[in-house]
Amino acid sequence: MLETTTKASELASREYNYTQADFEKTKKLIYDHAGISLSDSKQNMVYSRLARRLRVHGLKSFKEYLNLLEKANATEWQEFVNALTTNLTSFFRENHHFPILEQHLKTCKKPQPVNTQDASDLSDYLQKRRNLNKIHLWCSASSTGEEPYSMAIAAIRAFNSFTPPVHILASDVDTQVLRKAEEGVYSLDRVEKIPQSVLKEFFYKGKGRNEGSVRVRDEVRELVTFRKINLLEEFWSIRGPFQAIFCRNVMIYFDKQTQYKILKKFAPLLDEGGLLFAGHSESLQFASDIFRLRSNTVYEVANKKG
Ligand SMILES: C[S@@+](CC[C@H](N)C(=O)[O-])C[C@H]1O[C@@H](n2cnc3c(N)ncnc32)[C@H](O)[C@@H]1O
Repeated sequence: MLETTTKASELASREYNYTQADFEKTKKLIYDHAGISLSDSKQNMVYSRLARRLRVHGLKSFKEYLNLLEKANATEWQEFVNALTTNLTSFFRENHHFPILEQHLKTCKKPQPVNTQDASDLSDYLQKRRNLNKIHLWCSASSTGEEPYSMAIAAIRAFNSFTPPVHILASDVDTQVLRKAEEGVYSLDRVEKIPQSVLKEFFYKGKGRNEGSVRVRDEVRELVTFRKINLLEEFWSIRGPFQAIFCRNVMIYFDKQTQYKILKKFAPLLDEGGLLFAGHSESLQFASDIFRLRSNTVYEVANKKG
């Protein structure tokens, strides 16, 4: 009771009017749009993240903002989603996955040639030609790019070449992080844990105006294509098969029902022997009919031969 009273007074003392009902409505909207389940402990986070949007629109209350949102165009909806996603990531996060990916790339089945005759136009044809005979990987919640670029470095190491036959599709629901990811520019504190030798090999050091930052080397960036994909959506505009899917530290934001639906859609997109990499706290045991554990948080399709 005391806690409820404290919370109510906290809510009342804010710059913008923000009620329990506003929080409940926000929870429902972000769940419906991105599958993100916000716990009650996220009340303050929601306030501080969305207050920026109220400022932009010159509004006084969350109620006004939520009313505006309901009539808003896709741009404001995207801002809403961007504001409420949590994008924490780092290079070589959960480091043990990268040697496993490297080894997998060395041994996995090489891709079948793609039929280019069914290409709809010249750019489609060229895209198909470019991706011919490539191993495809998907990083399905790529955030600001550290994860897909770490995958690209693993691919370069696996083939001992800066032009490995690998293509990485990197996607996220948050368009702001995708823009940052595409730039491939990071401040020095984002790369401080990367060994100097790796930094030298795969990054350019900023000079002059760019002092204090690094940029991912062109050959690494060229292996990755970024695209907005909402994992919650019924239809993903992608084609497999993938030799590996990274889906790390995003399932924790979804309820089990949503997780199960997504896992069911991942399975047919994986090639024979393909691997699904999950985050350290994301056990897929509840979906053992779809995926079985292969090694530490690495899974394979339960009913396909490995
Ligand atoms: C905590 S980050 C994890 C990033 C990276 N996978 C890692 O492990 O370091 C979670 C990412 O999932 C994205 N995300 C949240 N909901 C999503 C959805 N419905 N579809 C696609 N991406 C989503 C967020 O925008 C965020 O960038």
